[in-house]
Amino acid sequence: MKKASKITGLAMVSVLIVTLAAGCCKKIQTMNITKEAFGMLADSVPVSLYTLTNDKGITLKVTNYGGIITSLLVPDKDGNEGDIVLGYDSLSGYLTKTPYFGAIVGRYGNRIAKGVFKIDGNEFRLPVNDGPNHLHGGIRGFDKVVWDAKEFKTDSTVGLVLHYLSKDGEQGYPGNLDVTVTYTLNNNNELRFDYLATTDKPTPVNLTQHSYFNLAGDGDIKGHELLIKASKYTVVDSTLIPTGELRDVKGTPFDFTTAKTIGKDLAATGGNPTGFDHNFVLDTKGLQVAAIKVTEPASGRVMEVFTDQPGVQFYSGNFLDGTIKGKGGKVYNQYNGFCLETQHFPDSPNHPAFPNTILRPGEKYQTTTIYRFSK
Ligand code: GLA
Repeated sequence: MKKASKITGLAMVSVLIVTLAAGCCKKIQTMNITKEAFGMLADSVPVSLYTLTNDKGITLKVTNYGGIITSLLVPDKDGNEGDIVLGYDSLSGYLTKTPYFGAIVGRYGNRIAKGVFKIDGNEFRLPVNDGPNHLHGGIRGFDKVVWDAKEFKTDSTVGLVLHYLSKDGEQGYPGNLDVTVTYTLNNNNELRFDYLATTDKPTPVNLTQHSYFNLAGDGDIKGHELLIKASKYTVVDSTLIPTGELRDVKGTPFDFTTAKTIGKDLAATGGNPTGFDHNFVLDTKGLQVAAIKVTEPASGRVMEVFTDQPGVQFYSGNFLDGTIKGKGGKVYNQYNGFCLETQHFPDSPNHPAFPNTILRPGEKYQTTTIYRFSK
């Protein structure tokens, strides 16, 4: 009897030692930001990569080239980390071919019909880079420029301030636009984007973030459950320019007012290629209530979006066609990632009835979007 209890005691001590040893070697991550080199542009301009971590196991990598989020590690329901954004391992991929992976988009996110608009009777012509239309700021938009970057750290946050001066006439836009985008990560597992801009001539501004998410870390996104608090969407023509009509989502494939899988009505959306690539008119106003919730049942990962913007472009990765080999050699096929680009409505400068997107001297463009992750 005595012997048995001695053995049990020994066994317990060994279990304790093994447990402690395991604990000691487990990665303990705290809030921090580090910087490393990420390569150079053709004109020898160096680019950096910043790694932001919080105490809860989130690791975010951002480069000051295009403000691109290259990687976002988020724990699943069992605590396993997974990279939930699409992109490349190195800078060269982003320089060669990218459908705006992870980038800041501007000066005007989404489309301006035929690249033409008028302000106060003066006509402006922008480069056309998407069929007949201007898309995402043009040939060299904010996703393809090097931003000045400054790291910061407080008791409860870690972040990066990105600054860019877009010159008068750049990509056809009027006015010097001074832009600051701040990325902040906190211990509530929130990733916050604060956009600020001022101008010296009236100009359209519509900034957004173009990360492609896959909360499972792999495969297609059809099984993700999506809720968008939007009772209307902007109807578009065959070139994805709004007709001006705001249509009720009720009875259409665009009704995400109660959660459904992205795959459920995907085939019924029409469009070429088929899929969601539409601006939803958000019912929410301000940051108090989540406008969007995405749940991936297998991993248990949940993403909520809070925004003060009137719309969101929900894009289901329709144009991904298997021609891009991304991180770890992974081929990105159609519907392998989705974007939730919080924004003003596409082509607003040509639709006086849409919320205003013209920024004037003396005014401040100031908006915030938050992605919150949970499980
Ligand atoms: C946005 C557009 C899409 C497409 C992607 C990038 O979401 O609305 O049509 O251009 O960006 O491929």
